[in-house]
Amino acid sequence: MTAEHIYPISDTLVSRHEQQLLLNQQGMVLWFTGLSGSGKSTIVQMLQRSLYQKGYHVVVLDGDNIRSGINTDLTFSNSDRIENIRRVAEVAKILVSAGSIVLCSFVSPTRTIRKLAAEIIGSGDFSEVYVDTPLEVCEERDVKGLYRKARAGIIKDFTGVSSPYESPTKPHLVLTTTKASAAELADKCIRYLESKT
Ligand code: ADX
Repeated sequence: MTAEHIYPISDTLVSRHEQQLLLNQQGMVLWFTGLSGSGKSTIVQMLQRSLYQKGYHVVVLDGDNIRSGINTDLTFSNSDRIENIRRVAEVAKILVSAGSIVLCSFVSPTRTIRKLAAEIIGSGDFSEVYVDTPLEVCEERDVKGLYRKARAGIIKDFTGVSSPYESPTKPHLVLTTTKASAAELADKCIRYLESKT
């Protein structure tokens, strides 16, 4: 949709370059995708803490938090998941333009949805991180008890059970949670991030 009678400001704003100089870092998005319960949030929390300790400014956008706040109006239908990701990607883009490192942690279940995020943010600032945990493992762990409810039909359209999850075909980074600890995987992300700057 094109915005009529809308006049975005930009020319006089502090530039991304200036913001990055202030923060002494390069703005970017690491986009974590994976099943519910795959370990995205755990890794992202550790990663943010480690980066903070190294002196980076890092913002976390996480599905459960975002859906309890700005996206509380959205369901888990395919069209609402698209809208969820569209809004988050627009917010992430603004944060990157202010020099932030943004960790986005969303199931973001389809290739189309993740492509939309990459297009909004811009492919140069977007890295796809696949948190690879088999469905059986997520279901076995069932930290939030949601798989049990989904199998019982209490939750509908549940990713991996009654709604699809498409694994990334060419992620920038794969985190295999069955082979390494969350701390090791967070370190892997730091090495990747520092190799990009
Ligand atoms: S996304 O598909 O739109 O990207 P998002 O990451 O925001 O999903 O939210 C996923 C979280 O919502 C899950 O980790 C889980 O805690 C919760 N949730 C509740 N219902 C569902 C559902 N039907 N499918 C997937 N996750 C759900």
